[in-house]
Amino acid sequence: MRNTIRTLDQHKQDRRPITCLTAYDASFARLLDAADIDLILVGDSLGMVVQGHDTTLPVTIEHMVYHTAAVARSTHRVMLMADLPFLGDRDIGTGLDQGGALMRAGAQMVKVECHGEHIELVRRMVGAGIPVCAHLGLTPQAVHRFGGFRVQGREAAAAERMQADARALEAAGAQCLLLESIPEALAIQITGAAGVPVIGIGASPECDGQVLVLQDILGLTPKPPRFAQDFMTGSDSLAGAIGAYAEAVRNRRFPVSTVHTFG
Ligand code: KIV
Repeated sequence: MRNTIRTLDQHKQDRRPITCLTAYDASFARLLDAADIDLILVGDSLGMVVQGHDTTLPVTIEHMVYHTAAVARSTHRVMLMADLPFLGDRDIGTGLDQGGALMRAGAQMVKVECHGEHIELVRRMVGAGIPVCAHLGLTPQAVHRFGGFRVQGREAAAAERMQADARALEAAGAQCLLLESIPEALAIQITGAAGVPVIGIGASPECDGQVLVLQDILGLTPKPPRFAQDFMTGSDSLAGAIGAYAEAVRNRRFPVSTVHTFG
């Protein structure tokens, strides 16, 4: 039976960390389905790790549907989440159309890069039957607004705004939050205040779960981000590296505060 949002909720309740990795194709998705991974994210990071771009901006809804369907066809146990691509949030109609297309391709939840302005979009998507994970912090589709892939929420005002956005997005119906590249203390506050599971990347070991880009843990990324770890080193197979990541997350040995997180 497939994991569902109820599986993630149960993990939060039991304080058992959720394990999540990205996948974009059938071969790797099968490996994750057979491993101790709870959730696959078909991320628009595919723009970088599959298509060779510098950012996620060139990824279209057609690309996302193609890769989501490939992952859905080849998995039976893990829960599947897929990214709403750049400009999929440009108006509510587009959000509903593109979110619906991802659900039809097999996603069980759609991740939307969010800030305060997305509250109505989230409410409408959830109302239409599209479960939403609200991605806060370093939202890579806004890389050019941030002036690079930079830690977000360092100043007091920005931290307060992010906490308020997290509360408002959950109230609007988001059933999961994802925090990327924010100070660890802020990640702990948002996780503690949230009634829904909070997944971190460059956030805190205290988040309810962790996600990384699969290619980063397999040592395939030329310049991996500071929050990633190469689990291939010391493993003799792909399955071994994926298992080592899952085990480290489950036991809160990954991420390590100050090594993979930000002050
Ligand atoms: O696209 C992606 O893979 C992501 C993760 C890095 C969280 O958004």
